[in-house]
Amino acid sequence: MRPLPAARPAASCTGQDDGPTRLATYDSGMTVPVNPRLARLHPYPFERLRELTAGITPNPDFAPISLGIGEPRHAAPALIAEAINGAMKSLSAYPATAGTPQLREAIAGWIARRYGLALDPATQVLPVNGSREALFAIAQTVVDSTRPGATVVCPNPFYQIYEGAALLAGAEVAFANADPARNFAVDWSQIDAATWARTQLLYVCSPGNPSGAVMPLAEWQALFELSDRHGFVIASDECYSEIYFRAEGEGAAPLGSLEAAARLGRGDFRNLIAFTSLSKRSNVPGLRSGFVAGDAALLKKFLLYRTYHGSAMSPIVQAASIAAWGDEAHVVENRARYRQKFAEVTPLLAEVLDVALPDAGFYLWAAVPGGNDVAFAQGLLAQYNLAVLPGSLLAREAHGYNPGAGRIRLALVADEAECLEAAHRIVSFTKSRP
Ligand SMILES: Cc1ncc(COP(=O)(O)O)c(C=O)c1O
Repeated sequence: MRPLPAARPAASCTGQDDGPTRLATYDSGMTVPVNPRLARLHPYPFERLRELTAGITPNPDFAPISLGIGEPRHAAPALIAEAINGAMKSLSAYPATAGTPQLREAIAGWIARRYGLALDPATQVLPVNGSREALFAIAQTVVDSTRPGATVVCPNPFYQIYEGAALLAGAEVAFANADPARNFAVDWSQIDAATWARTQLLYVCSPGNPSGAVMPLAEWQALFELSDRHGFVIASDECYSEIYFRAEGEGAAPLGSLEAAARLGRGDFRNLIAFTSLSKRSNVPGLRSGFVAGDAALLKKFLLYRTYHGSAMSPIVQAASIAAWGDEAHVVENRARYRQKFAEVTPLLAEVLDVALPDAGFYLWAAVPGGNDVAFAQGLLAQYNLAVLPGSLLAREAHGYNPGAGRIRLALVADEAECLEAAHRIVSFTKSRP
């Protein structure tokens, strides 16, 4: 048998925020027979940023700083490493896709403490290997591409996995833009009745990436009514839910979708599935651990899909996750660090940029003077060796404009000193521009 010719090296793909590699073509020019839907995927924001900054030499007088990638950098709590070390003997058996009863109980216990809800650990929660894979997989479970005009609705700007999941499931994507005049609440009225009628899945993100906006109860009520009328599933991405800025206490934490449903008398969570993650809450993006919770009938089908997909969580990760969901002290401490950083950095930047403290999350979503987010990011890299993400790369043009244009996303994930240094560079850069 002749060996296959070597594939050209694919674009590098590292980190949660990195994107899909380009399709391999062999040196002979022969292409691999693949699912044609793969060709509909868009390059990921960081791939586009690499292209846009390829010819730039960052000023070597400054140490490089990146506020680009939304990857937590605070230390993970020691209890996670201890649980991992203690679980090494558990590798001799295949884990169940549904996770162990102990893990599901630990997750249900956390939901009870966080949201005051009593979910059935056997039917209403499932562990997932980080929210990203689950956000992708839910579209493959829910979308029926044999129905004409299958549509998935997404906020805009958005986490690019939603769009890729919809396209690979054979759906069209309809976008609703965030409205800066209403604290970046999504303007769902941009989706017309005919589109809602074709919608099979709606992604929402609260707290939002990049704006940090938290959806209030009234918005949930409107979306639940639309879901009831048109029969679509709501996938609620809540991976930033534990990073918020109000002082600790009653009412400080962002409203969750399950909590909203229960308050509105929808205790069966029909057509609703919430996605939560340890990555940001416990600073373990490399652990790959989260959970989904909600509609038991939907989760049953999701479990079926996941069993075939091979999405069981490693027993080691399960042990670490039980420890993490069971401890809140490290989460309170983590939040305090973000609160302090945001309190120091935001006013500094507000001197030169249109920016305000968000409801939650770890991003600042700032408007740049002159409105050219790409040129601003390129200039900042060239003059100050500081990487930021141009907002237009996080959104698509929809309803006549790109709602990310003119903004930059700043991930305040590094330590306080580095974030402050970055803020000073942004102030100097902005002041130096004509
Ligand atoms: C909005 C949003 N959702 C989901 C994820 C995925 O997080 P994870 O897979 O680590 O849970 C991210 C990660 O950056 C994100 O920004």
